[in-house]
Amino acid sequence: MSLQQQQQLEEAYVMHTFGRKPVELVRGEGMRVWDDAGKEYLDFIGGIGVISLGHCHPALVKTLQEQAAKLMHVSNYYYIEGRGELAQKINSLLKQNLRCAHAEDWQTFFANSGAEANACAITLARLDARWQQEAAGSSARPQLIVTLQRSFHGRTCETLAATAQPVKQEAFSPLPTEKLYVPVPANDIDALEQTFAELGNDICGMLLEPVQGECGVYPCTEEYLKAARRLTRENDAVLIFDEVQCGMFRCGTPFGFQHADVQPDIVTMAKGIAGGVPMGAWSARTKVAKVFEPGIHGSTFGGSCLAIAAANTVLDTIEAEGIAQNVQEVGAYLREKLDELPHVKEVRGLGLMVAAEFDESVDAPAVVLAALEAGLLLNATGPHTLRFLPPLVCTREDVDDLIARLHDLL
Ligand SMILES: Cc1ncc(COP(=O)(O)O)c(C=O)c1O
Repeated sequence: MSLQQQQQLEEAYVMHTFGRKPVELVRGEGMRVWDDAGKEYLDFIGGIGVISLGHCHPALVKTLQEQAAKLMHVSNYYYIEGRGELAQKINSLLKQNLRCAHAEDWQTFFANSGAEANACAITLARLDARWQQEAAGSSARPQLIVTLQRSFHGRTCETLAATAQPVKQEAFSPLPTEKLYVPVPANDIDALEQTFAELGNDICGMLLEPVQGECGVYPCTEEYLKAARRLTRENDAVLIFDEVQCGMFRCGTPFGFQHADVQPDIVTMAKGIAGGVPMGAWSARTKVAKVFEPGIHGSTFGGSCLAIAAANTVLDTIEAEGIAQNVQEVGAYLREKLDELPHVKEVRGLGLMVAAEFDESVDAPAVVLAALEAGLLLNATGPHTLRFLPPLVCTREDVDDLIARLHDLL
């Protein structure tokens, strides 16, 4: 079906929540995709940080074909192949790179998206606080969650309430649980200290992205993450890291927080974990995870056969192909080359989660449209900001190609 026909059908029958770019993509391979007319595009947004192995990696295609022919879904009433192995791999990844790693294991709940993983993590934080209070013979119910300004945690009622961006909340305001979130400025330790000093007794958790993504890639400093750890611990609150975008090797380490010497209590993930197959997950240290008992939470599709098989293959391939190393090397090269472009004011990010902030002469959304014409998939997160989340297999040659084209466009 042609782009025009597809546009007509979507106009009539699909809800208009996305301002789609005028292109119909039909095929992909590695760093490239092709449209219905056969035109090739170099992909520097990777399905918004999802396509970790590149488009249609042969190992992932093979896994999905074989799994689809074998067993697709039986529900969480049963054991299936690969689920325990995947959770065990995630446990090892969560313990990597940490000078402060503790012996305690992590347990994982498999969900379907980032928002769902965050919403579940929030419920666990509240339940954990309740249990602690009950064990201490108190009837107090701490329910507040500290978040960061400019955060993004998803589009469900609960995660939208946690998303401290008035522009995204406005249409639904007042959200039922909006008042249970306390947004503070990122990397401002004094403001965080003050918030805990004033509200500590009512706080059950802090939820933050170690590298904020949707607002234009702003990493939290190590000092800030350490302060968040100290204050949550002192106040018997759980520390939740939303690694939906910055996790799963996007930043060159298994998780984005591993650039700092800090251990959270709960970590949420999604996007790149299954390389394009929908999957969310969240892991909690065993001590916290044990608050969840059979029957207390569930999901029909979460942790089903296709997603589990895909995620196992993604993690195995990342290891077998040395992709973490590639992310570190090519990410550093990308940041260096972006910095040399005209009109660039600042380049931010870690690994292959990068943003370039331009001066006011550059209209980023217009650059994205011109780039599409020129065969390049880009993303603007603000009027002067471009964000880059390419597949983790991106090479230096791909970066050179991007920079040459951006040079012409700018
Ligand atoms: C940090 C972060 N958290 C949560 C979400 C929501 O994930 P999903 O769209 O899979 O629900 C996103 C999506 O971009 C995200 O970047």
